[in-house]
This record gives sequence, structure tokens and C-alpha cells, in this order.
Amino acid sequence: MAQDRLAPPRHVAIVMDGNGRWAKKRFLPRFFGHKAGVDALVKIVQACIDRDIEHLTVFAFSSENWKRPSDEVSGLMGLVLAAVSRYLAKMGAMGVRIRIVGDRDAVSDKLRNAWNEAESSTLHNTKLTLNVAFNYGGRWDIVQATRKAIAAGVPADELTEAKLSEFMAMAHAPDPDLFIRTGGEVRISNFLLWQVAYTEFVFSDCLWPEFGERELDAAIAAFHERDRRFGGVKETPAEA
Ligand code: IPE
Ligand code: IPE
Ligand code: MG
Repeated sequence: MAQDRLAPPRHVAIVMDGNGRWAKKRFLPRFFGHKAGVDALVKIVQACIDRDIEHLTVFAFSSENWKRPSDEVSGLMGLVLAAVSRYLAKMGAMGVRIRIVGDRDAVSDKLRNAWNEAESSTLHNTKLTLNVAFNYGGRWDIVQATRKAIAAGVPADELTEAKLSEFMAMAHAPDPDLFIRTGGEVRISNFLLWQVAYTEFVFSDCLWPEFGERELDAAIAAFHERDRRFGGVKETPAEA
């Protein structure tokens, strides 16, 4: 297939949505959907490595998800802790570097410690960077970056787009090439607002726990069909 020869997107960002509906379809509590969502993520991490993708950024918990019932929120926190202890060694062996992006102040000490361990123990891995957006909001990111720039003493007339980018939570990565949202909703829900200025969007009706290699390949194929102009003009030979 022609697309096999095309360069993979360097950076894929995913809104992993639809866990609750996946569970509901099975008459299970929502928690089981989140649990299945963790397993789906582990498979997609391997699939991204196999496809030479450099950065995978996943929306795991938004700054608005605190609005959910407290038992769902605490279930999610417990699940993340369990996932770190269950999968950290495996991720390390796969060559994955883990980075957490988001506001860590509001999470428990236990979770903060787990994040720190996940980051420090995978620091030197280079196969793929898995950016886990947790207690993350795109608006929070812009505000925290601006605050940091001010605190660093950046003068107003030197606060350019490039300068502010240095303070954003994803400063270590190129902007996403491909944004995927599963679960059928067609919205950003306050994910990477600043970084998706020229990202290609693919929306899938597939519920996140059912999202696998086939669906990832379909999204990458759709990405390869896009004509990325970044505001410019692409001359075709006939027009040249
Ligand atoms: C996404 O799945 C996971 C998180 C927000 C943590 P949802 O829990 O939003 O699933 P739906 O959208 O209710 O199906
Ligand atoms: C976005 O999904 C957040 C995550 C997947 C973590 P939501 O389910 O919270 O988004 P809305 O409420 O449908 O916009
Ligand atoms: Mg949802």
C-alpha cells in the first residue's frame, strides 16, 4: 500500500473517550470501562512504537473531570495508581519514556509520588514518549505558561508565540500532527488548545476500549490523505 511508504505522524494526541458507554453497553459499572481503557492504552502504546511514532499524548483526566461523582473520581485515581504499579516495568522494557502533563497540585501525594517514579525510572528511554495528560486543561496550560513567563521576568514585548511555547506543558514535544478522538463526540473538551493550531483531526465512533491497531491505522491513513498547507499554497506541477 502506498501509505506504508509515507512518514508516520511524529506526534499523535488522543482523547480516549467512551469508556463509560462501553461499560454501560455491557451492563457494567463505569469503572470497568476505565479499566478496559487502560488495557487499550497499553496496546496502542505498542502499536505506536511499531509505527515509529515519537510522541503519543493521551487525555486521561481533564481539569473538568473533577465534576464527576466522587466515587468515579476516586475509582479513577485508584485505577491510575494500580496501572502504574502494574505496567511501569513493562513500559520501561518497551523503551517508553513517561511524562505527565497537567496540574499536579490537586492530586494526592501518593499519586504525585507514583508520577515522579514513572517519570524518573523511564527518563532515559527513547523509543516513544508517552505524555499522559492528567488534571490537564488547555486553558490551564496557557495560563500557567503565561504566569511562568511573567515570573521568569520575560518583558511584555518579548513574549512572542515562540517564547510562550517554551513555558507550555508540552514544550518538549513538536505540536501534534494527528489528533484522534474516540467515542463519537466532535469536540476538543479543553485538550491541547495551543498546540493543535495546525493539527489534523480524526474523529472515530469507536469507543476507546475497542480502539485497536486497525482503528489507529485507519486514522493514520486519513491523516496521510490530508493536504497540510499551514496557511500557505501548495503548487501542483500543472499550476507551476
Ligand atoms: C473517557 O471516558 C475517560 C475519562 C474521561 C476519564 P468517559 O468516562 O468520558 O466515557 P463516556 O464518554 O461517558 O462514555
Ligand atoms: C474528555 O472526555 C476528557 C478525557 C477523555 C480524559 P470527557 O468525556 O470528559 O468530555 P466531554 O464531557 O464529553 O466534553
Ligand atoms: Mg466522555
